Amino acid sequence: MKEQHLILGIGELLWDVLPKEMCPGGVPVDGSSTVGLLGGAPANFAVMAGRLGNHAVILSRIGRDGMGRKAVEQLDPLPADTSYLQVDPAHPTGRVTVTFKGTQPEYEIHQPAAWDFLDLSGEWVQLAERANAICFGSLAQRSLESRKTIQTLTAQTSASCMRVFDVNLRAPFFSSEVVQESLELATVLKLNDAEVPQLLALLGLPADQDPVPDTLRLSAERLLSEFPTLEMVAVTRGSHGSVLVTRDEWHEHPGFPVKVADTIGAGDAFTAALTHYLLRGADLASMNEAGNRWGGWLASQPGAMPPLPESVRVGIAAAIEG
Ligand SMILES: Nc1ncnc2c1ncn2[C@@H]1O[C@H](COP(=O)(O)OP(=O)(O)O)[C@@H](O)[C@H]1O
Ligand SMILES: [Mg+2]
Repeated sequence: MKEQHLILGIGELLWDVLPKEMCPGGVPVDGSSTVGLLGGAPANFAVMAGRLGNHAVILSRIGRDGMGRKAVEQLDPLPADTSYLQVDPAHPTGRVTVTFKGTQPEYEIHQPAAWDFLDLSGEWVQLAERANAICFGSLAQRSLESRKTIQTLTAQTSASCMRVFDVNLRAPFFSSEVVQESLELATVLKLNDAEVPQLLALLGLPADQDPVPDTLRLSAERLLSEFPTLEMVAVTRGSHGSVLVTRDEWHEHPGFPVKVADTIGAGDAFTAALTHYLLRGADLASMNEAGNRWGGWLASQPGAMPPLPESVRVGIAAAIEG
């Protein structure tokens, strides 16, 4: 058996709560007109990392409530370790109210949530010291307590640990400080093409708005030169694929055409595949292929943690690994 890596996803675990008619795959949460879709980028990332054969752990916090129990229930059959989840005695499990203006979703990320109170426990520190990779974003750093926990824990990983900052900017919950501090810790940065000019502007760097590969590559190179610990920048471009940039090479992938169900979680699947193959020493072309195959598959499925038939998993792995 191949070596199993320990991969951590730290941050928000939450329920998107939507009108029932918009989401046939949701589970009843409360009331009869809404359903819940479990998510939170770090949790989505961990489930995908687990599906790729790693020991993937969700480091988050739920409330002592029905939504928290339902979250654990839903994660139970999935290959992500929930045994390190913290339970907050006072604050509720995270939830996001999703309303629609036509087909355009609008999000209200309720605050405070249990995941705003991530506690730097001894158990988490011991796990981080053994981790091969840790992935974090900006949303869960909206509270001072979780921000300190995420940054301290990430700083305590070993020198060889891959530290992935998947920015996932969610207005109004980000700031120049959070982005700056996170980039100082990260070895890998993942962002989408829309986030590139936003991130550069937050850092006070000149930002070109044009989301074409050449511009994105130049922006990535600027970030690599600003942040000495960064080794790779991955810019995803939705249906147009992605660009991976390191200090001495870069690679562009056009993406795979898929019939989209919804794109929730596509970026998280991309990040998980990128992490998995980077830990295995893959080259940029293979990592890009893997990220786009898994990102494309996730976009073809409803929700962020869809069922994955074994035949599909084997087929995608074979296509990537040749
Ligand atoms: N409409 C789509 N068609 C095909 N692949 C997609 C589509 N949307 C996303 N993907 C895949 O998922 C990856 C991440 O999607 P993207 O939307 O760029 O990131 P994020 O979810 O972080 O905003 C893309 O690089 C691509 O591989
Ligand atoms: Mg994203």
